[in-house]
Amino acid sequence: MNDKILVTYASKYGSTQEVAEAVAKTLREKGLNVELQRAAKVQTIEPYSAVVLGAPMYIGHFHGDARKFLARHQTALATHKTAFFALGPTEDNEKDWIETRKQFDQELANMPWFNPLARELFGGKMDPARFRFPDNLLTLLPASPLHNMPASDARNWDKIRAWAEGLAEQLI
Ligand SMILES: Cc1cc2nc3c(=O)[nH]c(=O)nc-3n(C[C@H](O)[C@H](O)[C@H](O)COP(=O)(O)O)c2cc1C
Repeated sequence: MNDKILVTYASKYGSTQEVAEAVAKTLREKGLNVELQRAAKVQTIEPYSAVVLGAPMYIGHFHGDARKFLARHQTALATHKTAFFALGPTEDNEKDWIETRKQFDQELANMPWFNPLARELFGGKMDPARFRFPDNLLTLLPASPLHNMPASDARNWDKIRAWAEGLAEQLI
């Protein structure tokens, strides 16, 4: 068995990619042999002994690239150690966290075959000035939760690094 670990991610605006980079860096500092790749680009997970997948929440679901990754590699994932993280709430608001935690649990419950050794929800980052179509339209609709939403970054890097440090022992 090889000992290479794949850290892979879905990301639309880059914030989940940055978290995946931080997770990969921490695992490398712990001495692990890590490759980092966008989920949509991964052809096979056979070269790896473990897979860490990260995905942002979009409208109540994990980003489509992460869901497609899981569907494409379902059989192979059964023989790999796995860990999973998602990004969601962009503000430190308890109501948002409770709501996203429900989305997160529901999405994982829809895939009972996917049983990561570790799973975590982190805060996300949002910068409406950078939104592309169709997300930019949501900022214009008064009824949308994104209407007049200020830019915010709720990623807690200490929490992210601590989670990745804990992962190192579980993945080897
Ligand atoms: C159009 C849109 C929909 C979103 N929907 C949700 C959601 O349903 N639940 C949630 O917790 N976060 C939601 N978010 C917040 C994102 O998960 C967060 O901004 C994340 O950091 C984005 O990751 P990315 O930069 O890698 O694309 C949404 C963001 C946008 C722009």
